[in-house]
Amino acid sequence: MIYAANFKTNHTRASTKAYMQALQEKLSAKKPEDHVYIFPPSTALDTFEGDFTIGTQNAYAAQNGAYTGEIGVEQLDEFGIKTILIGHSERREYMAETQAKVAEKFAFFKEQGFEIIYCIGEPLHIREKGFESVMQYLLAQFEGIDITYDNVIVAYEPIWAIGTGRSATVEEISSTHRALKKAINNKPLLYGGSAKPANILEIVSIAGVDGVLVGSASLDAESFSQMVLA
Ligand code: PGA
Repeated sequence: MIYAANFKTNHTRASTKAYMQALQEKLSAKKPEDHVYIFPPSTALDTFEGDFTIGTQNAYAAQNGAYTGEIGVEQLDEFGIKTILIGHSERREYMAETQAKVAEKFAFFKEQGFEIIYCIGEPLHIREKGFESVMQYLLAQFEGIDITYDNVIVAYEPIWAIGTGRSATVEEISSTHRALKKAINNKPLLYGGSAKPANILEIVSIAGVDGVLVGSASLDAESFSQMVLA
């Protein structure tokens, strides 16, 4: 299973360092086949000792250059970071990343050999229209994306379940993952959206779920490690 922690705009450099130390101690009990990823805010990127992979929540599709406020490959190389989240719904929505932009970013980081966690997800009004509309919406988020890329993990995150405390139901996750798995040639597929210690066992037991992408419940090392070790 894959357990990925997305801190979003939470934690400082100091609290991230303390988190990593606390997590590392707890992860000594982790199953060797389980893989943990942490995505801290960019100010807290660093090299950390531990049985986990550090990734970046975002980066600009450039080595370096005149892109005020952004970081590029050069800044990630300093810490040996070769993993990136692309397509998160918060970036699509608040940072106005269009599908074309997302696809451009994907192509660039693929070219750089990065491991890409590619996020997709539908808003509530689409979910309410029914399964066919959901799949149509989700498949459109693969436009311009080379899903045959070896180093890709897909994360299905229904937007209405993100940060709301209301996870998708087992049936919703199960049917969506079954259909998505076919569309993505059986690539690893994570679920994200209010995954937490209380529902982790139920979620990772669903066929077609290869792990979780966790926001809120990942912010505390104790809560996140409970999920990994559950
Ligand atoms: P959440 O966020 O766990 O707080 O719902 C998930 C995500 O956005 O990756």
